[in-house]
Amino acid sequence: MSSIPSAEGFDSTLTLLRNPYGFISQTCRALDTDLFETRILLQKTICMTGSAAAEVFYSDDKLIRAGSMPGRIQKTLLGEGGIQGLDGAAHQHRKKMFMSLMGTEHIAALQGMSLHMLDNYAPDWEARNEVVFYDKVREMLTRAVCAWCGVPLPEAEVATRTAQLTALFEDAGAIGPKHWAARLARHRLEKWAAGMIQQVRDGELQPTQESALHVIATWRDLDGAILPPKVAAVELLNVLRPTVAVSVFIVQTAHALYRYPEWQEKLRNDEGLLEPFVQEVRRLYPFFPAVAARVKSTFEWQGYRFPKGHRVLLDLYGTNTDRRSWDAPLEFRPERFRGRAENPYDFIPQGGGNHYTNHRCPGEWIAISQMKAFCRYLVNDIDYDVPDQDLELDPGELPSLPQNRFIMRNVRRRQ
Ligand code: HEM
Repeated sequence: MSSIPSAEGFDSTLTLLRNPYGFISQTCRALDTDLFETRILLQKTICMTGSAAAEVFYSDDKLIRAGSMPGRIQKTLLGEGGIQGLDGAAHQHRKKMFMSLMGTEHIAALQGMSLHMLDNYAPDWEARNEVVFYDKVREMLTRAVCAWCGVPLPEAEVATRTAQLTALFEDAGAIGPKHWAARLARHRLEKWAAGMIQQVRDGELQPTQESALHVIATWRDLDGAILPPKVAAVELLNVLRPTVAVSVFIVQTAHALYRYPEWQEKLRNDEGLLEPFVQEVRRLYPFFPAVAARVKSTFEWQGYRFPKGHRVLLDLYGTNTDRRSWDAPLEFRPERFRGRAENPYDFIPQGGGNHYTNHRCPGEWIAISQMKAFCRYLVNDIDYDVPDQDLELDPGELPSLPQNRFIMRNVRRRQ
């Protein structure tokens, strides 16, 4: 058996932080391999890229999630006790809870709520000289997802909850004061969410049966017990937080419309191109760089030994832009998605494999539906100018957004 090639240096944490989207694929290319070994946060870690690597990563008999997440990510982005750290039957059972929220009509209802927000916000945008699109979209999505989940959100709390939910995904990887602010935001959000879970259980709050708040408050785990309030709070935030994070994809969609203006006309003329367009944004724009797991028990793959307990990182961004799966992978070509058969291992912006049995994101349909709604609105319902600004996406920033969050001017509603 060969030994896994090694990256240069003793520990790659800083190199990874400096180049989160390119580190794994570039190192693999330099070593002419699909995988290499290094240390991340001083722990031995195997990094892998490409669809073959994704296939082994998502075979659930080989890798597990318990204990795979760095503590600082759990204390900010994910919380403790949630689905991300479960394995086997416990995971599959909890996953049903999330998947039960993803019916087509239910997701369409959330889209309808966002469209309603757009109608409400547009007059104010017209009246203003300038709109910071990312800030507005985050706020709209906070309002829409809270209403959709059955979560009461008084007007006076909108800005605070939007900022707290944003801190969880924007500052998860931060070091220093931002990290501590994200931890505080999680603490406050969990207290808020646990309070609502308790109110539902006490009958003081009665959200609709199909709402996330009701489903999570009444969900029973495999042992027949309802979820502890803190865990239920983490799971409710597992719906609220990432739905607000779809704002990143929506700003990236606006960015693509600006950078590839010929697509505005194409999308106006052919509704069938909308989905390929947003899929290409999800493929090419950097958002979630990699996912982590641990080796369950020692196994061999492609002649290499994966020792029990080693952490494994799967490169999402590099797999989405792997030239073995994609022609001209760094070019923006939405047509590539027309009629393309789905492959759960080569297009993995929100994880891969099977939605029910693996850890693949249950919110993919929400992301696509929201992106399409906003994209259609930008193309058909308003005109706007994009003034001179720095629109470069900083590849060292997580998630990767333009410096001033996409400024629009002179917004006019079309008749
Ligand atoms: C903003 C766009 C989104 C991105 C980039 C994203 C990305 C991801 C990724 C990379 C994973 C991990 C996959 C893995 O571990 O293999 C994940 C899991 C998850 N996502 Fe999303 N997601 C997004 C939106 C959503 C939405 C809208 C929801 C709302 C329900 C959601 C809920 C979850 C949950 C609950 C998990 C854990 C699934 C499990 O462990 O089985 N995500 N997401």
